[in-house]
Amino acid sequence: MATAPLRTLNDGLSLPTIGLGTYPMDDDEAAGAVRGALELGYRLVDTAASYGNESGVGQGIATSDAPRDEIVVTTKLRGEDQGYESTLRAFAESRERLGLEYVDLYLIHWPLPRLDRYVDSWKAMIRLRDDGLLNSLGVSNFTPEQIDRLVAETGVVPAVNQVELHPYFAQEELRAYDAAHDIVTEAWQPLARKTDLLRDADVREIAERHGVTPAQVVLRWHVQREVVPIPKSSSPVRQRENLDVFGFTLTDAELATIGERGQARSGGDPATHEEF
Ligand SMILES: NC(=O)c1ccc[n+]([C@@H]2O[C@H](COP(=O)([O-])OP(=O)(O)OC[C@H]3O[C@@H](n4cnc5c(N)ncnc54)[C@H](OP(=O)(O)O)[C@@H]3O)[C@@H](O)[C@H]2O)c1
Repeated sequence: MATAPLRTLNDGLSLPTIGLGTYPMDDDEAAGAVRGALELGYRLVDTAASYGNESGVGQGIATSDAPRDEIVVTTKLRGEDQGYESTLRAFAESRERLGLEYVDLYLIHWPLPRLDRYVDSWKAMIRLRDDGLLNSLGVSNFTPEQIDRLVAETGVVPAVNQVELHPYFAQEELRAYDAAHDIVTEAWQPLARKTDLLRDADVREIAERHGVTPAQVVLRWHVQREVVPIPKSSSPVRQRENLDVFGFTLTDAELATIGERGQARSGGDPATHEEF
């Protein structure tokens, strides 16, 4: 069984360098997919209150043989629960649905700057960490300015920033900001939801050269750029394929070619996007 190498977060805890995404699985699908992924060697699992599958994710963890202390379970605070007291309450509900004594990594799902509650949410998360109910604090879809504000008001730097990132939207500036602040960048939609990326002629040619699949080339591109991808797959075959990217190395020229796919996000802009 292969597991992804670990890296150390700015709070001293460890994060596997590839994880499993679970959106849009329902509870039943998530239970099977998470259990199967853990048996294959995955040790990082990504869910969110808004996905509606935390119970299934928890069931997958409970029924697998993977040691709990090796698994990094990530869930996220949804927009409607932002604010100090509501964050404490929402976290308790997530933990209950997951069936876990503690959560490894808790992220603010979107900043929702119009509400202006993300600093209060962050303060509640610091308390939860101090109470021993969660290990690492992070954010998702935050801009450098929004992270600067969290740090200025609380002194606590997020361990992780999970953002849309793939070869069509390589996020060079954000990646540089995160690196400079010792924040790990996680990539959502790392395969660009497969779309045209896995049929791209350059990606296919590089894959053939290394004797791997286009998805493995794209995931290796993330790993070599020190970004942690969390590809979603419900298929055991593709889950195995996605974890198996540590046996080959892309050249600098190949990394550059893969990254030259344009600069267009497909999801929301953190400055304006609202989802609750
Ligand atoms: N923080 C946020 O705001 C946010 C937003 C969106 C997503 N996320 C998280 O990020 C995770 C990943 O993003 P995503 O699911 O949107 O996109 P993704 O991982 O880029 O793409 C998932 C799609 O690719 C297919 N796929 C997976 N591995 C493959 C392979 N080796 N070959 C061919 N096709 C493959 C999957 O199908 P099969 O299942 O059939 O394999 C699925 O249709 C989500 O599941 C979620 O946990 C977070």
